[in-house]
Amino acid sequence: MQDLDVNQITDAAIAQMANTPDPRMREIMDAAIRHLHDFAREVKLKPEEWLQGIAFMTAVGQMCTPYRQEFILLSDVLGLSRLVNVMHDASGREPEGTEASLLGPFFREAAPVVPLGGTIAHHAKGPEVMMFGQVVDAAGKPVPHAWIDAWQTDAEGLYDLQANNPEVMDMRGRVQCDEQGRYHVRTLKPLGYSIPMDGPVGTMVKLQNRHGMRPAHIHILVSAPGYRELVTALYLGDDPNIDSDTVFGVSSSLVVTPATGMADSPAPAMPSIRYDFALSRDDEGGGGRVGSDPSKLVPAG
Ligand code: BEZ
Ligand code: FE
Repeated sequence: MQDLDVNQITDAAIAQMANTPDPRMREIMDAAIRHLHDFAREVKLKPEEWLQGIAFMTAVGQMCTPYRQEFILLSDVLGLSRLVNVMHDASGREPEGTEASLLGPFFREAAPVVPLGGTIAHHAKGPEVMMFGQVVDAAGKPVPHAWIDAWQTDAEGLYDLQANNPEVMDMRGRVQCDEQGRYHVRTLKPLGYSIPMDGPVGTMVKLQNRHGMRPAHIHILVSAPGYRELVTALYLGDDPNIDSDTVFGVSSSLVVTPATGMADSPAPAMPSIRYDFALSRDDEGGGGRVGSDPSKLVPAG
């Protein structure tokens, strides 16, 4: 029989888990218990507050469906997805490789293939933008025939999955680069949008007086055999929320500003974005990232 004080309870809990056969699970759970207990001691957590926390997490779980993943959203707004992704990125990306960004919950497999120079705006209307550039390796050498998936909101700030008929794919497409790794594709200027605010995570974000917005962006996934898959996004520098993304996805190297009159644009009269994507060699056979298989986990919007 042990009489456990506020510190001994931590050692007792860790001791009970000491025979966990999986060493990584043991390491993670050991640290989780130490930090959780330290957190409770630091804020002097009261029973009614912990019950409120449990009610919140229960509501987050109950909000999840095959089409909505409220726990990923919670991880996003707490900055944890970004933290985990940045650590993963730093462990495998060559210094010259393009920075990663959040995949988000709106990616879909098998988007329509778009020819070079075609558009990913199949139905939506709005101001057009030309996106062009080259896919290179970390040494700047072209990566021939890389595939680029692009997906984004329409000019109203909505993903196709949030439209009346989510079966219809729009504002997304797959382009294959030429033998020099060059690509050009037309799209619409995306609009910033709110993360789903109708669930417990949205309630928390409102209670924290946060705006819940993401700055306008174009999601990008670049893949080529022998290279690490690059999941990133380009953020529009003129968005009012560029410095206060609710899910912390923006890095300065990913901020772009469409400009007309660019000499190397395939359509200089059109606002154009030039972005070259630099891929790192795949030495470790890839690896998961937070929200890496979200094709069926879609906020209802
Ligand atoms: C997105 O960029 O689509 C996104 C990312 C995190 C949470 C909600 C949306
Ligand atoms: Fe997005």
